[in-house]
Amino acid sequence: MAHVLGIGNATLDIIHAVDGYPRENDEVRCSGRTVSRGGNVANTLVVLSQLGHACRWAGVLADSAEGRLVSDDLESNGIDTADSRLLASGSMPVSTILLNTANGSRTIVHHRDLPEYSCADFESLDLRSCDWLHFEGRNTEQLQRMLHWSRSRFPSIPRSLEIEKPRQGIESLFGLADVLLFSGDYARHRGHDGPEALLHTVHDSSPRADLYCTWGGQGAVALDRLGRVSHQPAIAPRRVVDTLGAGDTFNAAVIHGYLSGLDTASRLRQACELAGKKCGQTGFNGLVRAGR
Ligand code: FRU
Repeated sequence: MAHVLGIGNATLDIIHAVDGYPRENDEVRCSGRTVSRGGNVANTLVVLSQLGHACRWAGVLADSAEGRLVSDDLESNGIDTADSRLLASGSMPVSTILLNTANGSRTIVHHRDLPEYSCADFESLDLRSCDWLHFEGRNTEQLQRMLHWSRSRFPSIPRSLEIEKPRQGIESLFGLADVLLFSGDYARHRGHDGPEALLHTVHDSSPRADLYCTWGGQGAVALDRLGRVSHQPAIAPRRVVDTLGAGDTFNAAVIHGYLSGLDTASRLRQACELAGKKCGQTGFNGLVRAGR
């Protein structure tokens, strides 16, 4: 068991399951409605906790019923929330999600009105027991300071950084982490029509990091710091029912692969396997137990 600290977002997800994606201005009934905790880092920690690691979450909570729902859910998943910051102002980030049960696609409308976790918050944490730090790529300017600070104070703790969305200045963070986890959306935003091209471009400018990029139903690619490429086709479930958080699951399994001493190809395979399993079930409950 390793100690993992995740720094990033937790959200309230209001998920409407629909049997097909509606047209604009339609009125449709949903076949199910769920309110649950979400957020990239929060989801990744939930999976890491199921994989047997001791997890802590550092992020912001609104002091409200919604904030309590999120923190209760994290705690019930074995995640320590003592490093979070509770704010009287603002409200919990909320994602209203249409989950198309015909193909598992998830369409997200996100509302945010909450200050971000700051570098000052981060510097007040006790990191001595940490074996791994995982950062969500947001709030770039503060995150850059957190990455610098953690590297200078705790150089031996490995750091992973998720780059899911294009954000101003996010490229300035690439040289500050050991493992970079890219989404296909980010690669497309950079003008690449496949994952490998992005990874080679990033490797040229940040040669000291291991790089990963997911590509939905086609799998994922890794390029390690020595320039070696690994390909892994997707490991699809019999039926794709829910892709929400598949990327967050992939990231958890990659981190787990490092913490268990796997090589790059095995890490990548394990990550595609678990992300595929996630797509075959609704939500995260029992994800690891279900298949092991
Ligand atoms: C899934 C997810 C959801 C959340 C949204 C935030 O990756 O973390 O749980 O609502 O993305 O962008």
